[in-house]
Amino acid sequence: MKVLVAYMSKTGNTKKVAEAIFEEISDEKEIKTIDEVDSIEGYDIAFLGFPIHKMGPDKKTATLLEKHCLQGRKIVLFITHAAPEDNQDLLPMLDKFRQAARGADLIDMFDCQGQLDKTTKRIMSILPDAKLRLWAKQDNSQGQPDKARLDRARAFSRNVMLKIHSVN
Ligand SMILES: Cc1cc2nc3c(=O)[nH]c(=O)nc-3n(C[C@H](O)[C@H](O)[C@H](O)COP(=O)(O)O)c2cc1C
Repeated sequence: MKVLVAYMSKTGNTKKVAEAIFEEISDEKEIKTIDEVDSIEGYDIAFLGFPIHKMGPDKKTATLLEKHCLQGRKIVLFITHAAPEDNQDLLPMLDKFRQAARGADLIDMFDCQGQLDKTTKRIMSILPDAKLRLWAKQDNSQGQPDKARLDRARAFSRNVMLKIHSVN
């Protein structure tokens, strides 16, 4: 079994989750940034990770997912976001990633909080949009993903690989 872990990460959070997932895989494996990936065709399974940007996948992410998620290829998605995991607004945001990856066979999906970078937070706190200002004020994502979340990513990775091996 050949496994790829590929990620996009602007401020390092999704990269941390990617590395935690990668460490738990005992098959032949590679870890790359998504920009280094030409095709996922040569892999039996690809874990693909992205941050939420502006309520979903940004344009580049949606285009990449549509490009790679073809012909029922086996993929796993992992997503980081500043909103707390129990925030109901996350469901439609995560669904947009599923939609963009609809050409693939989505085995499973993981998400966790990742800290909003300080510059973005500062900019949001002075924007004219009151909703964004409130969001910056209520932000509780600093320090994420913490050890507990990275442990959860590791457990997720082990479970996915067990599931894959049990059907192959
Ligand atoms: C431009 C921008 C837009 C963002 N939009 C959202 C959002 O809509 N919802 C959310 O929960 N987090 C949002 N975030 C926070 C990121 O998803 C979060 O910090 C993520 O962990 C960043 O991952 P990275 O460090 O791998 O780039 C946004 C961050 C940036 C920079």
